[in-house]
Amino acid sequence: MTATTPDTAVLGTPLTLPGGAVLKNRLVKAAMSEQLADRAHAPTPQLERLYGTWARGGAGLLITGNVMIDRRSLGEPLNVVVEDERDLPALRRWATAAKAAGAAAIVQINHPGRQTLAGLSERAVAPSAVQVDVGPAFAKPRALTGAEIHELIARFAEAARVSVAAGFDGVEIHAAHGYLISQFLSPLTNLRADEWGGDPERRRRFLLEVTRAVRAAIGPDRILAIKLNSADFQRGGFTEEESLGVIAELDKEPVDLLEISGGTYESPALYDGGTSESTRRREAFFLDFAERVRSTTTIPLLVTGGFRSGAGMTDAVAGGATDLVGLARPLALQPDLPAALLRSPGTTRSAFELKTIGIKKLDSIADLWWTQHQLHRLAAGKQPDPGYGPRRAVLAALRRDGTNILKRRRGA
Ligand SMILES: Cc1cc2nc3c(=O)[nH]c(=O)nc-3n(C[C@H](O)[C@H](O)[C@H](O)COP(=O)(O)O)c2cc1C
Repeated sequence: MTATTPDTAVLGTPLTLPGGAVLKNRLVKAAMSEQLADRAHAPTPQLERLYGTWARGGAGLLITGNVMIDRRSLGEPLNVVVEDERDLPALRRWATAAKAAGAAAIVQINHPGRQTLAGLSERAVAPSAVQVDVGPAFAKPRALTGAEIHELIARFAEAARVSVAAGFDGVEIHAAHGYLISQFLSPLTNLRADEWGGDPERRRRFLLEVTRAVRAAIGPDRILAIKLNSADFQRGGFTEEESLGVIAELDKEPVDLLEISGGTYESPALYDGGTSESTRRREAFFLDFAERVRSTTTIPLLVTGGFRSGAGMTDAVAGGATDLVGLARPLALQPDLPAALLRSPGTTRSAFELKTIGIKKLDSIADLWWTQHQLHRLAAGKQPDPGYGPRRAVLAALRRDGTNILKRRRGA
């Protein structure tokens, strides 16, 4: 048996968030878009089964995959949408499953902005009319009007209110990975010259107003988390300096948790940490940045991306770089990994390895679709299939998403 020193026990230490919520340990199931809603975008029994499995897996906090706040604007086919109380019973069942084993559970609320596939959404809107630069797959967006921006802030708040009414412990605002809020933050995608753009203060205003509206909607003691990019990893884009500026402003707001990630569809560092020297030196991608964040804010930190070994996770928490460890892809392959990590942090390691198909432009999407295939197996009550080929995953997902987009357009 491995000897348990105070340092190796650190992953099992509870954490009290500023609003009072208590997480039973330091391991977090990070958001993974499930695409398991029904055709009306309501949660399904498959989602209940999947989150029941993760709940039993031992993490202290489960964050759902991104849930859209507006059915006119989807990130992917079969996203869950929460814009009013029409699906409250199904949301309640989902929350109950996720919380069954004592974990807290929060809903990640999102709007894709320009990151919506061509033909998928009724409307493609963004801070400015700047299309995603990865071929013709993405819709050409139009710029939002001032009135529409205010309407979207209200929608984030309403989605949060309904999520909490359904029994979730709070929400995470998705301000990372190049989606709408992240588009407002970036000088490459926000070319506005009104009160929503033009300088860093005005670019961050949308996030701050969403944060305040969401807090007002959920009350003082529910969890309000924000997922933010350390940087977009693009020349001329959102930098670490601007990210620290945003965090200094968020520090004045009642935020419970700040999740650090990075990258966008155009530069997907979230899956490999980009190419920086620090990422190669350390197991997790954004730890050096997290250490800089510590001197900017007292908001508890969650770092997600690249964590694979109990030793690496223990070092990151015991060393003070982060309070919580986010795990995404490893939990698609081993949903009970958190329990194993808590039992033997010194010897446990994720079996997940990056899945590639040898075509650089498609590798990160291959990895994502391979992972999503494993989620769908878990949701169907099956075991993960480590031998599944990433090329097969790409072909199957293209077929599936293409069919779902066509069905949606036909109103089927
Ligand atoms: C299938 C899949 C879906 C994802 N969906 C989301 C999402 O909805 N929201 C989000 O913030 N991140 C999403 N991510 C990114 C993860 O939360 C995480 O940041 C990334 O996978 C790096 O963590 P890991 O190395 O532990 O996998 C997704 C990742 C995968 C593989």
